[in-house]
Amino acid sequence: MVIKEITDIREKYPDRKSALLPALYVAQREFGWLSHEAMMSVSHALNLPEAMVRGTASFYSMFRHTPVGRHLIQLCTNVSCMILGAEKLIDFFRTKYGVGPGGKSQDGRFSLVVMECIGACGTAPAMLVNTDFHDNLTEKKIEEILEKYK
Ligand code: FES
Repeated sequence: MVIKEITDIREKYPDRKSALLPALYVAQREFGWLSHEAMMSVSHALNLPEAMVRGTASFYSMFRHTPVGRHLIQLCTNVSCMILGAEKLIDFFRTKYGVGPGGKSQDGRFSLVVMECIGACGTAPAMLVNTDFHDNLTEKKIEEILEKYK
């Protein structure tokens, strides 16, 4: 199914290299992270050298190279978010969910990474859960939000 979707993506571009980023995104969505096997699938589907696939995947921070929890939390810790409490929220993630930056909760539910500005400085602190955006975060609001992600 992944190969078919990647092949369909390849057909939309005049050059196979242009399909690489969306193909990697599909592979990551399907497998959860870009394992060697996932990158080989992309390499074969697009008929591109493995080194090109691996080099491209390693360049972008949106691609993951280790197994992650079912839901990826990306918490902004840049200036506005830090001033408005992101550091305390990191402590909250540790104590409430048992996950710190770069880690995965023991139940496999969440992975947490810290990231630079996600463009919500005026409504900081902010985070992404998978691709969903959340801002004006408080500990209580995080609890309510994460209830939806089992
Ligand atoms: S500093 Fe966090 S969204 Fe801009």
